[in-house]
Amino acid sequence: MGVDIDELAKRLETQVLEDAKEVFSDTVIEYAYNPRNMGELRDANGVGKLMGTCGDTVQIQIRVENEKISESRFITDGCGTSIACGSMLTETITGKTIKDALAITSDALLHSLDGLPEENVHCSVLAVNVLREAIRDYRKSRSDK
Ligand code: FES
Repeated sequence: MGVDIDELAKRLETQVLEDAKEVFSDTVIEYAYNPRNMGELRDANGVGKLMGTCGDTVQIQIRVENEKISESRFITDGCGTSIACGSMLTETITGKTIKDALAITSDALLHSLDGLPEENVHCSVLAVNVLREAIRDYRKSRSDK
């Protein structure tokens, strides 16, 4: 009897999703499985990149026009939670002034994601720290001119 690989893959995927639902909020799952703003931002004028204590790296690129973030994108080699955090954070900051973006805390990000398990809270802290780096980089590039 042959094994239907597609059927097996589908069953595995369903199982993984069901397991994830026991641990993560629907919002985290939605933003991790359907990432927003993932990839390179070509004409960025601020870039932040940090490695977390977990060893994963997150990069956020922003384009600031008239002190407002007109676009932002992120890249990560990290966990699904870091994808959810990058997705939510880049979506949240788009259209905000850099002052308002700087005021976003990891607690606020956690709140937007309807919470994270304790062992994943550091992923949200990393994302917010990377955003602050990107804004610092933007400001530095302006003051260098
Ligand atoms: Fe490293 Fe989530 S960013 S475990």
